[in-house]
Amino acid sequence: MPNTRRNRVLIVGAGLAGVSLALRLAQEGIAVTVLAKKGLTEGSSLYAQGGIAAALSKRDSFESHIQDTLDAGAGLCRKRVVEFIVRQGPENIQWLIEQGVEFSRFTDETRVNQYHLNREGGHSHRRVIHSRDATGKAVETTLEGRARQSPNIVVLENHIAVDVINSRRPGVEPPTRCLGVYALDLRSGKVKTIGADFVVLATGGASKSYLYTSNPDTSTGDGIAMAWRSGCRVADMEFVQFHPTCLFHPRAKTLLISETVRGEGGKLSLPDGTQFMAAHDSRAELAPRDIVARAIDYEMKRHGVEHVNLDISHKSPEFIREHFPNLYQLCKRYGYDMTQAPIPVVPAAHYTCGGVLTDIQGRTDLPGLYAIGESAWTGLHGANRLASNSLLECLVLAQSAGADIARQLDEFDAPGMELAAWDESLVTDPDEQIVVSHNWDELRRFMWDYVGIVRTTKRLQRAHHRIDLLKEEIKDYYSNFRISNDLVELRNLLAVAELTVLCALERRESRGLHYTLDYPQPNDTGYARDTVLTPKNFVGRHNGPLWHGPVRVGNRS
Ligand code: FAD
Ligand code: SIN
Repeated sequence: MPNTRRNRVLIVGAGLAGVSLALRLAQEGIAVTVLAKKGLTEGSSLYAQGGIAAALSKRDSFESHIQDTLDAGAGLCRKRVVEFIVRQGPENIQWLIEQGVEFSRFTDETRVNQYHLNREGGHSHRRVIHSRDATGKAVETTLEGRARQSPNIVVLENHIAVDVINSRRPGVEPPTRCLGVYALDLRSGKVKTIGADFVVLATGGASKSYLYTSNPDTSTGDGIAMAWRSGCRVADMEFVQFHPTCLFHPRAKTLLISETVRGEGGKLSLPDGTQFMAAHDSRAELAPRDIVARAIDYEMKRHGVEHVNLDISHKSPEFIREHFPNLYQLCKRYGYDMTQAPIPVVPAAHYTCGGVLTDIQGRTDLPGLYAIGESAWTGLHGANRLASNSLLECLVLAQSAGADIARQLDEFDAPGMELAAWDESLVTDPDEQIVVSHNWDELRRFMWDYVGIVRTTKRLQRAHHRIDLLKEEIKDYYSNFRISNDLVELRNLLAVAELTVLCALERRESRGLHYTLDYPQPNDTGYARDTVLTPKNFVGRHNGPLWHGPVRVGNRS
């Protein structure tokens, strides 16, 4: 393949957002290239357990799903966005079924062929369609199969996008537009210049900026950092969702214990057996995640214990093995039998509610650049994401971004610019890899200690100070040495860590996932505000207004 190639649509990332967009476009006859920094399916989507929220049952309604999303979002959801995404849910589930995804069905004779729906915290109905307890695997592998067969999709695995190329680069005249990306081919070590008429960032979240996380290694916030560097605004990064229950075990790097375990009756207790959730919230184990994670954090600190326990062993072994076959096996591998005894759990960073500010077509501030999935901020999640709304958002935004890109492609006349090749003339091979690995560890540790579930202004300032020091070091390293996967990711992790801390410092109240001891209550002016950060090289936007401004708490318009 030549070093420089021009594409119509380049999608960076092949999680549910990226791969479903690729398929949507390919099914319209549009040629797309998909980059993935590891294998095609590796990313958070592959590990999703609980399922996808959609109002599918006769007893449920769009209104109820909308209200539950607004309630979890603690006054910051954009109601129009919530309505749009929730209402598109059932047809997107139908699309997945048409692609061949097999969702779990009831096994009893009276409801044969009906899909089984899971219950999760914050949902007032059973509404989470799933494939046993490994929904992500079922969805990703089915869509992967389709993508690999499509003549319209070119897949470039082991390619990590480094930066967005835009027309503000020296020597190139406005109009400002995204023109492609630089991507490091991890096998050859060469940086390719990949031109495209439209670039879509579908790179997932940034939870790897924390020491303990449920996420795979790919979640390093690359798309958010790239969009920010290319002049796009970023919003609400302070809202980091900590999943209440990840397995506590020295060898279990990232084993999430699905919320559906609590949905099916799992109880949380201290190591001495005392249950505590009812004392924190009337919904007990089924309260939204922010409440459950904070309650666990509080009880762990109060009692000086390293973990709490999650117990579903009061259900029959058949029920547990039928509903949680994957978790049952994985826990057994670590020496725990869910059917017999409680399992030790702790909270861990799970989901990035903030991200690149977009509209409901996924358009960012930079014309030609889109962001969808966990890397984007649409206004759906507000201050706290409702469980299983993330995969839903990936699907709906892939659909709407796909339609928008298809519409624009017809009219778009490529500027035909010569793109500058990546310049390596002034760099040498890195001398000390240890600088990168040491800084990775340091960053993730202080983010956990200072920017975790419970924050204070002083801790946030400490984190900010350390980020400043690391930034200098990494800037120097990045300018002088050839880039590697770890260096690219570290640079991005630092950028997203800084955005998280800046947003957290700006929010002088506690709301949803952001809890600070210095301002323990929500502000009571009647308005809730998103934290929108604008980069120095802000490019503005040519396609119409994006969401900003305060949201009135109460009617949540
Ligand atoms: P991802 O699936 O993370 O995919 C990102 C893609 O981008 C990957 O292909 C990655 O390789 C690629 N990439 C990243 N950076 C670059 C780069 N620089 N260059 C090239 N490629 C790059 N949500 C739900 O709604 N329901 C659930 O049941 C659920 N369970 C979950 C369980 C776990 C363990 C985890 C971690 C998350 C869960 N979530 C769930 C959240 C949900 O899975 C994610 O929010 C969602 O999958 C994100 O999809 P995505 O396509 O945006 O990103
Ligand atoms: C889970 O199964 O608990 C994860 C669901 C989600 O993150 O939405």
